Amino acid sequence: SMLKIEDLHGRVHDYLRISITETCNLRCTYCMPAEGINLTPKAHIMTANEIEEIAKTFVSLGVKKIRLTGGEPLVRKDAKDIIERLGKLGVELTLTTNGLLVHEYIDTFKAAGIKSLNVSLDTLQKDKYLQITRRDYFHALWKNIELLLHHKFIVKINVVLIKGFNDCEIIDFINITKELNIQIRFIEFMPFNGNQWDQFKLVTYAEILELLSHSFKPENILRIKDKPNDTAKNHQIKSFKGSFSVISSVTNPFCSTCNRIRLTADGKLKNCLFSNSETALLETFRKGESILPLIQKNIASKFPVRGGMKSDAEFQNPELFSKNRSMIKIGG
Ligand code: GTP
Ligand code: 5AD
Ligand code: SF4
Repeated sequence: SMLKIEDLHGRVHDYLRISITETCNLRCTYCMPAEGINLTPKAHIMTANEIEEIAKTFVSLGVKKIRLTGGEPLVRKDAKDIIERLGKLGVELTLTTNGLLVHEYIDTFKAAGIKSLNVSLDTLQKDKYLQITRRDYFHALWKNIELLLHHKFIVKINVVLIKGFNDCEIIDFINITKELNIQIRFIEFMPFNGNQWDQFKLVTYAEILELLSHSFKPENILRIKDKPNDTAKNHQIKSFKGSFSVISSVTNPFCSTCNRIRLTADGKLKNCLFSNSETALLETFRKGESILPLIQKNIASKFPVRGGMKSDAEFQNPELFSKNRSMIKIGG
């Protein structure tokens, strides 16, 4: 099809992130407010059939890659059904998960053609895992990561860096890539509603590179070419099996190559992680009307950079983020 979702800045959106649930079996402090969130009533959450039909519309508009997110996508009771349906759409299917339930889905992933998974893991220390997630599941998760590797899935580990908490583990994380063929992705902590962000908790890309220079010789730190729409700046330590990268959304935004659109579990289209203007696709879909004009209109309103933020200074404006969703309701 010649149709495509192009914004006014020439960016073609061919990567759809679908959040399939607002719930999670962890309680990560950087993702949700301590007091919890108000869950959308189930009647307003997309059903498996609605997810499939809306996803088909996006595929007809040129979407080539679909990522399922949450909350935690695999806690949804009919996650298997959803994965099976989307596996038939003929586009790349993948998911971002906390990894705790992947052992129940290995066959489902394979049957749906899933090749790669992004798994969240912020620390290699059991006590710290409990502290950040408020759940004591470190060993269960590590076992599942090994299981995924055993089954030859490509595994990327997402590490949200928080100063004074896990920045002391950067080298430990890189060292596990010596023998393990995984990609560790250090992520700059971003502000969302209720996640206690402040600039002093940020560990920047520049700081990470500085730190590396104390442990590795510069000629052994290789910069690997990124794929065109990558969020991650990729690196590898010479002769290590795995690699590591930095997702530098705060200090080096990659908005000029943004190809992502997001569908929330309650069926709203969000054209940017930081945009508050949402379009209720599900509502219109349920009336039996076409969602095409809504998609085109939403994408035409996409700002060039970070939801219209005027400068980096706006990261320090809590008012801005209190209007956005909590990360658990966006899906990353
Ligand atoms: P790949 O498809 O493997 O490149 O993964 P991804 O980086 O798109 O997805 P993932 O869900 O693993 O997200 C990793 C981190 O990147 C999270 O902190 C996301 O919030 C962040 N991220 C993903 N997409 C975007 C984006 O479009 N903009 C910004 N600013 N951050 C993003
Ligand atoms: N800043 C950066 N990344 C975040 N994630 C969740 N909250 C934040 C935040 N505040 C990451 C998780 C998950 C991915 C979808 O988003 O680590 O892997
Ligand atoms: Fe795209 Fe918004 Fe992320 Fe920039 S901040 S890359 S525009 S989603």
